[in-house]
Amino acid sequence: MSQLKLSKQGWSNQTVFILAAVGSAVGLGNIWKFPYITGENGGGAFVLVYLACVLLIGIPVLLSEIALGRAGGANPVQGMANLAHEHRANPLWFLLGLNGVLAGALILSFYTVIAGWGVAYFYESVKGVFQALTPDEVGAHFKTFLANPYELLFWHTVVSIFTVLVVAKGVKSGIERAISWMMPGLFLILLVLLGYAATTGYFAQSFSFLFSPDFSKLSWQAVLTAMGHAFFTLSIGLGTMMVYGSYISQKYSIVRAGMWIAFADTLVALMAGLVIFSIVFANGLEPGAGPGLLFQTLPIAFGQMGGGWFFGSLFFALVVMAALSSAISLIEPAVSWFEQNWGIQRLKAAWILGGLIWLIGIGSVLSFNDWSGVHFLGERNFFESVDFITANIMLPLGGLLMSIFVAWVFDDATRAEQIGLSPRMMKWYLLDLRWLAPVAILIVFATNLVAAESVWFMVAIALTAYAAYVLNAMRKAG
Ligand code: PFF
Repeated sequence: MSQLKLSKQGWSNQTVFILAAVGSAVGLGNIWKFPYITGENGGGAFVLVYLACVLLIGIPVLLSEIALGRAGGANPVQGMANLAHEHRANPLWFLLGLNGVLAGALILSFYTVIAGWGVAYFYESVKGVFQALTPDEVGAHFKTFLANPYELLFWHTVVSIFTVLVVAKGVKSGIERAISWMMPGLFLILLVLLGYAATTGYFAQSFSFLFSPDFSKLSWQAVLTAMGHAFFTLSIGLGTMMVYGSYISQKYSIVRAGMWIAFADTLVALMAGLVIFSIVFANGLEPGAGPGLLFQTLPIAFGQMGGGWFFGSLFFALVVMAALSSAISLIEPAVSWFEQNWGIQRLKAAWILGGLIWLIGIGSVLSFNDWSGVHFLGERNFFESVDFITANIMLPLGGLLMSIFVAWVFDDATRAEQIGLSPRMMKWYLLDLRWLAPVAILIVFATNLVAAESVWFMVAIALTAYAAYVLNAMRKAG
């Protein structure tokens, strides 16, 4: 693993890199998850905590991850091995990259399933299905949709194939090309929808729901959710930003790119929230409806309001584009690892990995119907278990180790060269990265570990730690 392998691919320019990274960050997390967790956690106060998490933990870790990617110059596994070698650190740091590759594949396995719902709802919106349904029927429609594993499997397959087709073509002709029409399209649609939201008469109420904090509604669990979400929404902790960072040239500014990514990601989440809650309030619906907010609540509104067919179809087109540009980025760390370390052609690597991930995704498809009562981790079904392990364990662990590497293993010169902050800002950044971010992430990580409520999971974590210890001992012995 000590042999150095460098990424042969590269972005055409810095704007394309920023677009692709924003494409990765902006996804179901912004349009599906952010609005419903905000609704469930009472609005304003939760949004404030979430913004603080993005600023104080998300952005520093994001900058670190891109810097690790560029300095490592390869896929996350090889990149970390390169960095460990170069900085005379423990070679087992490659495991951090492996954690990311695995987490990306696991997240993608259910991400394509939920993105599939978006594609199905787009298709049905265009066909005018929601115009013909009463509010009760819309709810029943969602339940019937979820109850049919074949239909979910079909849409899961459609999204998986699209993802593989784009990634198989490579960084420039695949990812870059797809992103450069999807991202402008996404922003345009969001602006049109925002314009519409402003005409509903409930824009002000939606604004105050998102921005007037009522701290009595904030629980400790909500703070943990906000921090976990900051990681998920910025696509950090698993190596996506690392692999995208490995394709940028030394002359690009990581700080500038990072600021744009965080800004655009937050802006889209807030804009989506404004649009969704304006529609929800205008139609007298419930903001705390949970995961069904997007698929159960909104179609009721689209079925009843003027221009509902047009705005509904536009809305689901937005969901689909956001989800697809993130799906692409979730598989890229694994594809580049197969390509660079195992010598497997990109086309083949994309199909093999896509197939494997698709197979794991069937577990999530079944979680909404035939396997809904089958428990894996504690009381969680397959989908909930994979979501829990990745978002609550693997991403925070990845983020924690990335912060540690940049804060403690990198020397001052490498940090200055990669991150490029002014000396004063660098001092704040380091202080944050050395103390605030790791401590905050550790608290989330430890709380989530306890919340796993599963003995075998604890045993698996202990065994993994033991395996790393043995590997280390064997390495030292010679
Ligand atoms: N950031 C994406 C979202 O908000 O939907 C999800 C995601 C993509 C997470 C890529 C992690 C990642 F590496």
